[in-house]
Amino acid sequence: MAEMARESDVSGGGVDIDRLEGEILGAIDGVSAMDALEQIRVAELGKKGRITALTKSLGALDPEARREAGQRYNVLKQAVAHAIATKKETLESVALDAQLLDETVDVTLPIRPEIMGRLHPVSQVTEELIAIFGEMGFRVAEGPDVEDDFNNFSALNIPPEHPARQMQDTFYLQAEKSNMPLVLRTHTSPVQIRTMMSGPPPYRIIAPGRTYRCDYDLTHTPMFHQVEGLLIDRRTHMGHLKGCLTDFVRTFFERDDIPVRFRPSYFPFTEPSAEMDIGCRRTADELIIGEGDDWLEILGCGMVHPNVLRAVGVDPEVWQGFAFGMGIDRIAMLKYGIPDLRTFFEGDLRWSGNYGFGAIDVPTTYGGLSR
Ligand code: PHE
Repeated sequence: MAEMARESDVSGGGVDIDRLEGEILGAIDGVSAMDALEQIRVAELGKKGRITALTKSLGALDPEARREAGQRYNVLKQAVAHAIATKKETLESVALDAQLLDETVDVTLPIRPEIMGRLHPVSQVTEELIAIFGEMGFRVAEGPDVEDDFNNFSALNIPPEHPARQMQDTFYLQAEKSNMPLVLRTHTSPVQIRTMMSGPPPYRIIAPGRTYRCDYDLTHTPMFHQVEGLLIDRRTHMGHLKGCLTDFVRTFFERDDIPVRFRPSYFPFTEPSAEMDIGCRRTADELIIGEGDDWLEILGCGMVHPNVLRAVGVDPEVWQGFAFGMGIDRIAMLKYGIPDLRTFFEGDLRWSGNYGFGAIDVPTTYGGLSR
């Protein structure tokens, strides 16, 4: 035993490497905190560490002894580095386990209503729209807020000189695509184009989302929300459009007897085009939907223009259908009696507390759409 220890004492400086290694590995083994481990690393392998110093002392040895000692020091260095790395991993995983245990959430605890967030009316109404149109077989489609000229305008039969392209309405971006500036989409209608370009007909989608126009007053904000609807099939006609939207408003406003009317209108991407009004009564400070002899416009719609179908490679002799577009914020204001659109986007918690919705009541047509 004594003989062996002496034999491995190759440093020539009276250092017993085996003992030293045992001592260091033992110390590493005994450590239970990251900072203590780091202290050992610095003390042994750091710039002024013990092992580093040993390596530096090699220069004083004669070549034969230097080679032998050098190899031994390297083995020592590697063993220590490896032990430190392994210990570090262990300590990290122990710390993670402790943290996970500490942060366990008991999902069976009852909800504390006083700290629960409220769903924004736009989110609520979007969910309601999805519930209603979902039941009619529409799926949700999406598109980006930044659009190109083709999707937002030209494929929708909106020619370059059309007023909708005017600077005062449209936010143009500096970035260009094929020499045309990109825009913040001015309506959700580009999702019609994206949908029809992404696969063959038939189509039956709604596309809720953000839209942008340069406008700001009681009923306009530069960012607002729309929902687009598109239905294309082999024998779709205006009667389907009227039935679908009539069903929609009656379900949405939760009154079976809401009077509706379709007024001729104009949109470049539909022919014929119409605006849909619902019956209402206006008093000095109230608007009652579904009764009275006044009318309120709630959406634009029409039969998809053959030029639009041609632009996306759909044969208008075979496929036809309808589209509609509606302001989500606007119908939210009407349904829930919220007077000023600008307040929607101010992020005031008192406002959300008042107009917001319980986050766990999912709207369904059978279980109730609201509250
Ligand atoms: N995109 C139109 C708008 O923003 C609405 C619309 C959509 C009209 C689809 C007809 C068909 O006003």
